[in-house]
Amino acid sequence: MPNTAELIARTGGQTVRRIVFSEEEIARRVAEMGRDITGAFPLDEDLLVLGLLKGSFIFLADLVRHITRPLHVDFLVAASYGAGTVSTGEVRLVYDPEASIAGRNVILVEDIIDSGTTINRLIPLLEQRRPRTLELCALLHKRIAPALVKEPRWLGFHAPREFLIGYGLDHSENFRNLPFIASL
Ligand code: IMP
Ligand code: MG
Repeated sequence: MPNTAELIARTGGQTVRRIVFSEEEIARRVAEMGRDITGAFPLDEDLLVLGLLKGSFIFLADLVRHITRPLHVDFLVAASYGAGTVSTGEVRLVYDPEASIAGRNVILVEDIIDSGTTINRLIPLLEQRRPRTLELCALLHKRIAPALVKEPRWLGFHAPREFLIGYGLDHSENFRNLPFIASL
């Protein structure tokens, strides 16, 4: 665990409220999730792990190393219209995976579920491509979304309803490199 001085140095002088999930806690949980996912699909079926950029990049990189079976990795980039911290509810795909989805077992990997807007737009869009199965894996879930079209089959942690940074999560593109998750 970094001490206060190290923490302030790492965040460029910003005061982090508290560390919510430590590097060790995250590593333990992600390893468990990887094991669960490994056992969830027959070995003779293929598996596509689809990361939602940018927030999931560190989680996905750690997660797939704990999925000890053959798989493919691809990414998609979604952007919500409008700037700032309030979502306008519109989500569009800025990068569409090259990997075909039809007939495959697909796991969509999301960093954090907040309002649920992103998931509620992307899941139906991916379903239209007729995957064999489509499951959701999220590291964090704030549980404020009134109605999610799909709940994560694999969830890392229940998240406090605070703005979180680190382990891929950003605030204005900062802090993604912190190895722990903190509240700003
Ligand atoms: P949703 O569409 O409101 O569920 O928001 C999902 C996206 O918003 C996530 O993929 C994150 O990129 C971003 N987000 C939501 N909450 C947080 C947070 O606490 N910290 C950083 N990013 C967040
Ligand atoms: Mg994100």
